[in-house]
Amino acid sequence: METLFIDKMHDELRQGEAFAPAATDPIAYKKRFYIESYGCQMNFADSEVVASILNQEGFGATRNLEEADLIFVNTCSIREKAEQTVRKRLTEFKRLKKQNKALLIGVLGCMAERLKSKFLEEERLVDIVVGPDAYRSLPALVSEAAGGQKAVNVLLSREETYADIAPVRLDGNGVSAFVSIMRGCNNMCSFCVVPFTRGRERSRDAESILHECRELFAQGYREVTLLGQNVDSYYFVPDDATAQESTPVTFAKLLEKVALISPLLRVRFSTSHPKDITDEVLYIMQRYENICQYIHLPLQSGSTRVLQLMNRTYTKEWYMAKVDRIKTLLPDCGISADIIAGFCSEQEEDHLDTLRVMDYCGFDFSYMFFYSERPGTLAARRYQDDIPETVKKRRLQEIVEKQNQLSLRSNQRDLEKIFTVLIEGDSKKNDQEWKGRNSQNKVIVFPKTANSSLEKGSYVRVKVTECTQATLRGVPV
Ligand code: 5AD
Ligand code: SF4
Repeated sequence: METLFIDKMHDELRQGEAFAPAATDPIAYKKRFYIESYGCQMNFADSEVVASILNQEGFGATRNLEEADLIFVNTCSIREKAEQTVRKRLTEFKRLKKQNKALLIGVLGCMAERLKSKFLEEERLVDIVVGPDAYRSLPALVSEAAGGQKAVNVLLSREETYADIAPVRLDGNGVSAFVSIMRGCNNMCSFCVVPFTRGRERSRDAESILHECRELFAQGYREVTLLGQNVDSYYFVPDDATAQESTPVTFAKLLEKVALISPLLRVRFSTSHPKDITDEVLYIMQRYENICQYIHLPLQSGSTRVLQLMNRTYTKEWYMAKVDRIKTLLPDCGISADIIAGFCSEQEEDHLDTLRVMDYCGFDFSYMFFYSERPGTLAARRYQDDIPETVKKRRLQEIVEKQNQLSLRSNQRDLEKIFTVLIEGDSKKNDQEWKGRNSQNKVIVFPKTANSSLEKGSYVRVKVTECTQATLRGVPV
């Protein structure tokens, strides 16, 4: 149910990204599409599936809005603010139709699923509405919309995993890629809209995942992040294979298979649910050096009473024991969390519990939000959203401050340590510096040295010499 977002500051949703330069397109495309994505990594991965489907039908991607015949917005419903951002953007796009009457605008993803044809019929904001399981029908819907018909497909599927579609990497760094291993979610966290927008959980064919990862490695990628709302419940039973191969593939097994592709291919995964992550997964992480020592383990709340209302199915003690277990088996493992402030009925004592659990676990970083009621969720139906916004924001602020201290402390512990860093590219501020990540998912910036053969995708040993609460700086050794 939880989904790791691309940026740390994802509550201020990333201004969507438009993708893929036209210059290298081998085919002369008949039309151009522009796509912006919001929300979680799953959504960004889905946009790459959409790009692939559209490419095959003769639509090429463009980063240039003026050049676009089609504009797509892949949307997120997780919090109200996310939806507001998208709505504003769609209104801006609609204005472009004044200059270009043939321009078609499509809304994809979670908001499309949640609001169905509302955008099209009531608000007349868009021409095409497509939910997360209906992307294969996009080309047909585009034709329908071009012919002036209402083009909507928000059917959810129990099977669709887009397993056979090779995503077109849109905006990557050429070093790390996301690989979707499952879709949907069967947990029923009471705050969460995802089970409604992304449907039932289903696992993608293991062989197709391995194939995609091998291809990425062959193309020069050096890191894959296996994505799912709840990766630990990945479970795939091959049906048409030989008896030996038809053994079910669990997440631990899949992780191992991906790790075996090459020791030079780093493997990450997201997201884990504390109730589902197994020792088996931790043992596999111990065994393979290329599986990154990093687990995103959403806490949501440190109060057992609130956790129960959230339907998280664990207590605060269970969560803390899980963190202990991780630290015992994987002493160098980085741990991050998602935390929600001000859920229904949260008392000051519950909030203090959250701060205490944060202290106990010493998260390296966290993604922090205040509760935003989502229509149709269990919480919206059962509980009152009764914490005043000022209180939610104050508690969130205290959580953020706590996390800032923890992050600084965590980074200070890394001073003088040497890490293997995978170079992702130039540092944002200075092209004389490289930026990369260590296994624990921390960003490390370090100077480029003259005559060095290092490049994007190289591994390098870096000694950490300075830190802030957000970044580590170091020197190659
Ligand atoms: N309000 C605030 N935060 C939410 N999240 C999910 N639903 C909501 C909501 N209604 C957070 C959870 C989840 C992350 C992806 O977003 O912390 O793990
Ligand atoms: Fe991702 Fe949809 Fe959830 Fe947003 S609502 S985080 S896009 S799954």
